[in-house]
Amino acid sequence: MINVLVTGGNGQMGRCLDHIKSKHSSIKFLFLSKDKLDITIYKSLLNFIQEHEVDVIINCAAYTKVDKAEEEPANAKIINVLGVKNLIKISETFHIKLIHISTDYVFDGYSVNNLKEEDKTNPLGVYGKTKLEGENLVLDSNSEAIIIRTSWLFSPFGNNFVKTILKRSHLKQKISVINDQRGKPTYGIDLAETIIKLIHSSKSFKNKIYHFSNKGVTTWYDFAKSIIKLSGSKCDLAPIKTENYPLKGLRPKNLDLNTELIETTLNLQIPNWKDSLNECLKMIK
Ligand SMILES: NC(=O)c1ccc[n+]([C@@H]2O[C@H](COP(=O)([O-])OP(=O)(O)OC[C@H]3O[C@@H](n4cnc5c(N)ncnc54)[C@H](OP(=O)(O)O)[C@@H]3O)[C@@H](O)[C@H]2O)c1
Repeated sequence: MINVLVTGGNGQMGRCLDHIKSKHSSIKFLFLSKDKLDITIYKSLLNFIQEHEVDVIINCAAYTKVDKAEEEPANAKIINVLGVKNLIKISETFHIKLIHISTDYVFDGYSVNNLKEEDKTNPLGVYGKTKLEGENLVLDSNSEAIIIRTSWLFSPFGNNFVKTILKRSHLKQKISVINDQRGKPTYGIDLAETIIKLIHSSKSFKNKIYHFSNKGVTTWYDFAKSIIKLSGSKCDLAPIKTENYPLKGLRPKNLDLNTELIETTLNLQIPNWKDSLNECLKMIK
């Protein structure tokens, strides 16, 4: 039996892991929400680890509000940097493997190329900067760790783009969606299954970054169009340029994560985002 602690267990990604846990009987999961285990309080982590057997930590805890981070950078930093530092210390001290989730927003989106793990990072905003700082701490540590960078997460759980578009289309609201930012939608359940494969893989955990996203690049506008079409709802959808959309946090224009490394490491067949969107919508219905 492998004992896995999921921090931020009540967030979107934590809930995706919770959803698939019954398929994986060789793993005993412990899901802890922020009010039960705050990663910024080292003493709480220490007490928890001393009282429970843990072999792997999956860090789903994060400050994820891209716009609000610009107003409260200190809060973003405490969670995405200090929290990660605490987890690393626990991982090093107790020889616990660490899987840390990060983001494609560590890149600036100026490259037209498929982005590999080793490509140059240059986050545009506070959220991406704090996530990159967290990544660098993991890479410089002595813990057995993996970083998974992912993008445009959606699922039946928590707050995400798919659920927002569905809600607004049911209200028959006119929706303006950005059509000049490209990226790769990623189904949280596909990522959750991949994380489980990584846990079972014999490949070294040491200081590795993996990119994981679904196949296919799209714009937020085309993503919204597919959500509306596949869900059978009708609403007035209009494309809008980033410069005309009032958002505080700068967002990269073009993020195409290259996922070859994780595909070859785990012998993965990653579904196209449209197929996974279909699965997600079936679950939401
Ligand atoms: N969502 C995306 O589109 C996206 C894209 C790329 C990468 N990612 C990365 O994927 C990971 C998971 O994202 P997500 O969508 O699941 O985010 P999420 O739904 O916002 O979940 C994050 C969870 O962390 C919790 N948390 C915040 N501070 C904490 C603390 N100090 N201690 C313990 N838990 C804390 C939050 O609780 P509260 O809500 O109570 O604060 C929330 O439940 C993050 O690392 C994120 O950077 C996300």
